Amino acid sequence: MADDYHRKQMHTRFLPALALPALVFALAAVSTGCRTLPPSKPSSEWTPQEASGAAVYQAKCARCHYPTNTSPLHGPGLQAITKVNAMPSGAPPTNERLTSVILHGRGMMPSTPLDDQQLTDLLAYLHTL
Ligand code: HEC
Repeated sequence: MADDYHRKQMHTRFLPALALPALVFALAAVSTGCRTLPPSKPSSEWTPQEASGAAVYQAKCARCHYPTNTSPLHGPGLQAITKVNAMPSGAPPTNERLTSVILHGRGMMPSTPLDDQQLTDLLAYLHTL
């Protein structure tokens, strides 16, 4: 009985002790622009379309963009590119904007001609990053 009481006491003291660091961490993440990016979908879970898109990416984009981080290669790393509020340029990562960047290029990025199927597959893949 006494033990039980003790455990409950521990519980009520322990929870706030955990909640505070969690809150501090969350606030820090928000104020640093949330550097912890959502995880990418593992390749073992790709749909056939996402896998085709990955092949397009390898052929057309990989030499300039890392898919698994945000470090620059020739262009910015594209991890979580469709999940962020703003791309490096500041533009929101809508499919329209991505399509325009891909087909028409931007700054030092050359335009990449793709047919409709390749483009649709590539966009599906970009959403897994
Ligand atoms: C020859 C190198 C090169 C290739 C190939 C290339 N990019 Fe880029 N990309 C760049 C550079 C450089 C930038 C930065 C452009 C700028 O903002 O001035 C960029 C920017 C981007 C951005 C960010 C746009 C923004 O608004 O901030 C996206 C998204 C992107 N590229 C996707 C792709 C995809 C998808 C492919 C494949 C179809 C691709 N790129 C192929 C060099 C490349």
